[in-house]
Amino acid sequence: MERKLATVLFVDLVDSTGLVDALDPEIVQRRVREYFDETSACIESHGGMVEKFAGDAVMAAFGVPRTHEDDAQRALRAAFAVMEKVHALGLEARIGVEAGEVVVDDTASSTFATGEAVNVAARLQQVAAPGEIVLGPSVRRLAAGSVEVEDAGPVEIKGRRDAVWTWRAIRSLDVPRRATTAWFVGREQELELLENALARTVRDRRASLVTVYGDPGIGKTRLVSEFVEGAERTTTLRGRALPYGEGITYWPLASMIKSSAGISDDAPAAEAFEKLRLCCESEAVADLLAVALGVLGAAEDGRTAGELTWAVTLWAEQLAQAQPLVLVFEDVQWAEEPLLDVVEHLARALRDSPVLIVCVARPDLLEMRPSWGGGNPRALALELGALSPDESRELVDALLARTDVPPAQRALALEKAEGNPLFLEETARVFGDEDAGTLRRIPDSVQALIAARIDALDAPAKRVLQHAALIGRVFWRGALDALSPDLDVACALDKLLEREFVTPESHSSISGERAFRFQHGLIREVAYGTLTKAHRAEDHQTLAAWVAERAPEELADIRAYHLDHAASVW
Ligand SMILES: Nc1ncnc2c1ncn2[C@@H]1O[C@H](COP(=O)(O)OP(=O)(O)O)[C@@H](O)[C@H]1O
Ligand SMILES: [Mg+2]
Repeated sequence: MERKLATVLFVDLVDSTGLVDALDPEIVQRRVREYFDETSACIESHGGMVEKFAGDAVMAAFGVPRTHEDDAQRALRAAFAVMEKVHALGLEARIGVEAGEVVVDDTASSTFATGEAVNVAARLQQVAAPGEIVLGPSVRRLAAGSVEVEDAGPVEIKGRRDAVWTWRAIRSLDVPRRATTAWFVGREQELELLENALARTVRDRRASLVTVYGDPGIGKTRLVSEFVEGAERTTTLRGRALPYGEGITYWPLASMIKSSAGISDDAPAAEAFEKLRLCCESEAVADLLAVALGVLGAAEDGRTAGELTWAVTLWAEQLAQAQPLVLVFEDVQWAEEPLLDVVEHLARALRDSPVLIVCVARPDLLEMRPSWGGGNPRALALELGALSPDESRELVDALLARTDVPPAQRALALEKAEGNPLFLEETARVFGDEDAGTLRRIPDSVQALIAARIDALDAPAKRVLQHAALIGRVFWRGALDALSPDLDVACALDKLLEREFVTPESHSSISGERAFRFQHGLIREVAYGTLTKAHRAEDHQTLAAWVAERAPEELADIRAYHLDHAASVW
């Protein structure tokens, strides 16, 4: 007998008895046999073990007998692959997946796993609709970021007091990146530094803080993404400070907490609170977080900063019990003092918890807060500089591989970019845009380059881009429609997507709203800068009204933010 952490998957065919009636029994038998073979092959090729067959059901365990770094992800990839195979056979299946501790009995003739995760996965398989993959809370947490999910509500489990919250897996996010961003050059030492910081954090079970400094477009976010992708068996949560963030001081923390608990921005308070309780596994912490952070609003709500800090610390400690936790705070140069205080406190106060806090900031952070990270022996700073000429050349060659840009132009782009990868990407896009391709000379700064690309857009696309900039780094289709009632938004959006100004966001924080994001924060900043003050005030007003209509209470903070802006541009 052995206890192990595993991810359990149940598949069952939909209505195979109906199939029996409709078809020649021999054909049915052959199909079902093929289904068993294909399913077993899928599971085994992803590193899982097929455990038993009962009727048409297949149970599989990932992590038994051998543990892999990414058993949850493997199970989900296998689940999608099984669905595809089953579909190709003209059959349909339901799948349930959950992770947790299992007891493995290998004294019996075959290995046999039992435990809570097995019961839950089996139950989730029963409630899944045909063609659906339903996930329990543990597997969702372990696979956060590698799968797009949709809320599927609570499910009662026999013998358990509380229902478990469930999610439908929509699609795997392990997709290859697009052409202009796939290539990664250099940064070996910087990656190593981050990897070492994580390894030490895990070894010592102590929190540490790494701040990555650098100019816009130099590659901070990309470096951290590459690091996070390579960091196996960790939970990563991201939060971004918003520019001029008054009133939403704790927004980045709130978004981390919400994504760890699967709470959408427009979730009603009662539902959010329920999920928080499930995620926290401790009512005291959930209560405190809910009140202190206003859960949905990240407002202080009359609580003292001390109480808030305490709740967040307990939350992080609890999450880090399951596996090491990486918290990535982006755009920290825009964070407000109280948030910076909480982050510094977290880095110092977390006990017996493997938590790596990565802060990404422009160098301005140190002007605002010269002492940042100071006084903490477990804080590191990492300044990200220009790519070397060789690395820049490698990147340009990759970016322009399929174009016939003359060598003189390439050389000029290289010279002007001064080792800034965003500059190189933007020049590659200029060469790719038919309208901007005629740009006579390459501007000197990356901001000017982006401005020139925006200028080359036709008027409706430019308006829609400005509206998007007003909404934020991530924006919603419905909000664009509200801001641009007389424009063909779909057509403009297509153009913006094609020119890589923006990209679809895999997960929307407002249910039922398609979300998009700016390819880079700087594109948003430049686009926002092209709005006149009068336009800004009016559009922030319209947006506040849209938000109010969409979800009056839950999105109150976003609404307040826009109202505030409508007033403050003057
Ligand atoms: N080392 C690199 N190799 C290839 N592309 C890179 C590299 N660093 C950054 N990029 C690309 O350059 C662009 C800007 O990088 P990003 O990380 O967003 O910059 P920052 O966060 O510093 O503003 C992104 O599209 C990114 O994919
Ligand atoms: Mg960035």
